[in-house]
Amino acid sequence: MVYKMKYQKHSCRSDPGIPRMAPLWLLGVFLTGTLLSQTEGVIEDVALGSPFVESAVREAIELVDKAYKMSRDQHKEKLRKRSLRTTDLLRFFKQPLAETRRAVRSAEYMETAMHLIQRNVHRVHKRSLNASDLLTAADLDTIARVTGCLAIRQPPICKYDCFSDRYRTFTSVCNNRRKPRLGSSNIALTRWLPARYEDGFSLPLGWTPIRLHFGFRLPLVRQVSNVILRTANKDVVSDLTRSHFFMQWGQWIDHDMSLSPFSGSLQTFNDGINCDRTCIQQSPCFPIQIPRGDTRIKNTTQCLPFFRSAPACGSGELGSLFGDVNTRQQINALTAFIDVNEVYGSTDCLANKLRNLTNELGLLAVNEKYSDNGREYLPFNTISSNLCGSMGESCLTSENSTPCFLAGDVRVNEQLALLSLHTVFLREHNRLARELKRMNPHWSGDTIYHEARKILGAFQQIITYRDFLPLLIGNEATQKYLPRYEAYNEFIDPGIANVVSTAAFRFGHLIIQPKLFRLNENYQEHPQFKNIELHQAFFTPWRLIKEGGVDPLIRGLLGRPAKLQEVDKMMHDELREKLFELTSQIALDLGSLNMQRSRDHGIPGYNAWRKFCGLTQISNLNQFRQIIKNPEVARKFFQLYRTANNIDVWVGAIAEPQVTGGKVGPLLACLIGQQFKNLRDGDRFWWENDGVFSGSQRQALAKTSLSRIICDNTGIQSVPLEAFKFSQYPSKYVACNTIPAVDLSDWKEDTQVTPCGSVPVVRAGHFSICNLAVKYTCKSGFRIVGEDTIKCLSNGKWDSTPPRCVGARVKICSKWKQLEKGYQEKVHGVPCEDEGAKAVEDNLIEPEEH
Ligand code: HEM
Repeated sequence: MVYKMKYQKHSCRSDPGIPRMAPLWLLGVFLTGTLLSQTEGVIEDVALGSPFVESAVREAIELVDKAYKMSRDQHKEKLRKRSLRTTDLLRFFKQPLAETRRAVRSAEYMETAMHLIQRNVHRVHKRSLNASDLLTAADLDTIARVTGCLAIRQPPICKYDCFSDRYRTFTSVCNNRRKPRLGSSNIALTRWLPARYEDGFSLPLGWTPIRLHFGFRLPLVRQVSNVILRTANKDVVSDLTRSHFFMQWGQWIDHDMSLSPFSGSLQTFNDGINCDRTCIQQSPCFPIQIPRGDTRIKNTTQCLPFFRSAPACGSGELGSLFGDVNTRQQINALTAFIDVNEVYGSTDCLANKLRNLTNELGLLAVNEKYSDNGREYLPFNTISSNLCGSMGESCLTSENSTPCFLAGDVRVNEQLALLSLHTVFLREHNRLARELKRMNPHWSGDTIYHEARKILGAFQQIITYRDFLPLLIGNEATQKYLPRYEAYNEFIDPGIANVVSTAAFRFGHLIIQPKLFRLNENYQEHPQFKNIELHQAFFTPWRLIKEGGVDPLIRGLLGRPAKLQEVDKMMHDELREKLFELTSQIALDLGSLNMQRSRDHGIPGYNAWRKFCGLTQISNLNQFRQIIKNPEVARKFFQLYRTANNIDVWVGAIAEPQVTGGKVGPLLACLIGQQFKNLRDGDRFWWENDGVFSGSQRQALAKTSLSRIICDNTGIQSVPLEAFKFSQYPSKYVACNTIPAVDLSDWKEDTQVTPCGSVPVVRAGHFSICNLAVKYTCKSGFRIVGEDTIKCLSNGKWDSTPPRCVGARVKICSKWKQLEKGYQEKVHGVPCEDEGAKAVEDNLIEPEEH
C-alpha cells in the first residue's frame, strides 16, 4: 500500500492516458513467471513463481526510492550549506521534473527489477540469462503495470470534437491520431540507425577501455577534446556573415526540441556510490577519465563527473517486452514539434503553473517583484510547494537573493542571452493576448491564451524554416529536404532522432563567442554593463535584473557576429575549460560531454552516419584528408581513432567543411535537414496545414520577423531587417517603425454572421465559435447551468437555448468584536471559520452585463 500512496501525492497529473501505477498486490495475483532452465540438453519450463518476482520488484522499488530520497536530501543539504558544484548545475537542468520524473522513475523501477531478477537467477543457476527471456509476456506486462511503465506506453484517448482538437495539447499527445504518442513529451528519442552499445544493448561504448571496436580502442573523449577541439579564447575568429543571434536561435530551437534527462538519483542504486565524487564506473556514473598531459587537470586519478541519461520505459534489458530490439533508449522530456514549448512547457502541470489564471486575459504569469523599464520579466521559481519541482531554490550562483526564473524549459537560466530571449517571447505572448482580447472581448481567458499560443507557434515555425534553416544547411539541402510545403503526412515520425539531439544539433557549440556582448543604443559596448566572459554568464539570472535588463544583451546578439567554426579552431576555453565554473571546483568540458553523451546513448560512429546519408565511406587517412581538407587535423583524428568507423559522429561531422551557403558540412546538413522535414511534414498543427489557419491569417502570419518581435517587446528602436545576418551597425539597420507588423484583424471573430444569426450572449459568460458550434464558459465565480455548447442547424435555428451563468452561493459572516469598556461592535465580512462567527447572508451573485 505504501507504493500506492506515493503516486497519489501527485495531484498535478492531467496528461490523458497516464494513469497511476498499479498497486503492488497485483503482482501476487497475476504473476505466473516461467524460467527456461537447461538441464543436460533438455529445456524445461520452470515456474519462477510470483513471490520470486514480487520480491524483486519490491526490492527494486525500495532501492530506487531510497536512492532518489538520498539524492534529494543531499541536494537540499548542499543548498543549505551553499556548496553547489559545477555538476549540480548541469544536473540541475537535466534533472527530471514532474511527469518526466515519473516516467524516469518507472523506467528505473523496471530496469532495476529486471537486474535483480537476472542477478538472483544467476545466483541460483550459475548462468547468465537475459531477464526478459525468463518471464512470460504476462509477467512482464504485470511488472510493467506495477512500475508504471505500461501506463506510459499505452496510447492515450484522443478527443475529436472541434473545440478540443483546435489546439495542440501541451504534451503533444494526439498530434498524430494514428499513433497518439508520436512526437509527444517523455517518450524515447527516435532511432534512425540501430544503437551501438558495447554489450549490444545497454553499456556505453568505451565502458571497457581495453575493448576493441573495429579492431581499435576508443580514445578518451577528453583526449579528443584536448587534441582536436582546443582553442584559446584569444584565437577565436568571428564569422562576419552571421550575427550572434544565429547561434542563440539555434539553442532556442534546440530547447524547443529535446532534453534527455538524467536519472532522478545521483548515485548507484545497489551500493549508493555518488557519481559526483567517483571515478568508478557503475551506472548511472560514467565518469570522464583524464588523459596524461591534460591541458588543465594534472591529477589523472581525478575524473570529470558524468551521469548517464535515464533510460526510457521498456528499453535496455526490457526491449523485448515492447517489441524493440532490446536496446537501451533515452527519453526526450520535451515535445518534438516546433511549438514554443520552451515558453509554454511540455507538460500540463508546468503549462498551468506558467499561466496567470487570476483573470480572463489569457496571459502568462510574470515577475511580480521586478520589471525591466516597465516591461515584464519571467516569474521567479521560488516555490517550496512546487509540484513541478523546486529548482528555484537551487539557483544560488551569486547574489543569492535572486532566485532562478521559471519558463517552459528548465534550462532557461543557463546563460544570460538565452534568458533574454525567453523574456522577449514571454512578452510577445502577452502582447498578442492583449491584442486578441481587445478584438474579442467575448473570448474566455482560455481561448485568448490558446489563440496567442497558436500564433506564437506559427511565428516560431516561420522564423526557423524561412530565416534560420536555409542559412544553416545551405540552398541544396534546403531544396532537398525542405521544398515547398505540400501536406501533413501522418505516417512520418516527427520524433527527435537520438543522433540529432546527441550529436548533430550540437553543431551550435562551435559558433558560440567566448563572451556575451552588451551594447548601448548605438550598438557600442555598454559603458556601464560591459561585455562579459561566457563563464560569468552561466546561471546568473540576477545579472539580468541588476545589470541593465534585456536590451543590452539583445543588442549584443544582433550587433555582434557569431564565432566562426573552423576545423583548427573548434571550441574555446570558456566551454572546454570553464563550463559552469563557479568557484574553485572542477569545471566541465562541453566537448567531452558531447562525445561521452553519444557513447552513453549508443550512437553509431561517423562512417555509419555518412552511409545513412548516402555519403562516401572513409576507409583511410587519405580519404579523410580529402574530406576535411586539413591534413594536420585529419592526421590527429586518425592518430586518435585509427578508423573513421570509430570517430564520434559529433566531432567528425563538425570537422567537415561547410556546404555552400550554410554553416555545417554535408553530413550535418543531411541529418538536420531530415529532422526538420519530419518535424514539418509530420506535424498536424503545422502552420500551413489546411484548416490550422485561414488563408488570410496565413498571409498575415507570414509578415512576422524576429526583428519585429524584438521591436515590439524591448526598448530597442533600430534593428537589422534580417536578424541572423551580421552587418556592422548602422549598415542595414532600420528604424523599428519601418518593419512590417503582423495584422491580427483576421482573428476578430464575427459573432453576428452565423447562418443562425448573431450568437446569443450569456451574461457573465464567454464563448467561442468552432465551425457551427458555440461553446460557452462562465467568468470566475459563476457556474454554468445547461449544455455548454449550442449548434447552428441547417434550418438556420440553434439546436437549443444557450446555458446560463449563475452566481456561486457566497456566505457572509459577521461576529461581535469586544471594544473597550464592555462595548461590542458587529463586524461584517469576517472569515466564517472564525470563532463566534455567524452567517448573516447567503447570497446568489447576480451576473452583470458585459
Ligand atoms: C552558451 C551556450 C550554450 C551552452 C552553455 C550549452 C551547454 C550545453 C550543455 C551543458 C549541454 C548538456 C551536455 C550533456 O551533458 O550532454 C547541452 C546540450 C545540448 N546543446 Fe548546448 N549549449 C549552448 C548552446 C547551444 C547551441 C547554440 C546549440 C545549437 C545550435 C546547442 C545545442 C544543444 C543540444 C541539441 C543539446 C542536447 C540537448 C538534449 O537533448 O538533452 N547548445 N548544451
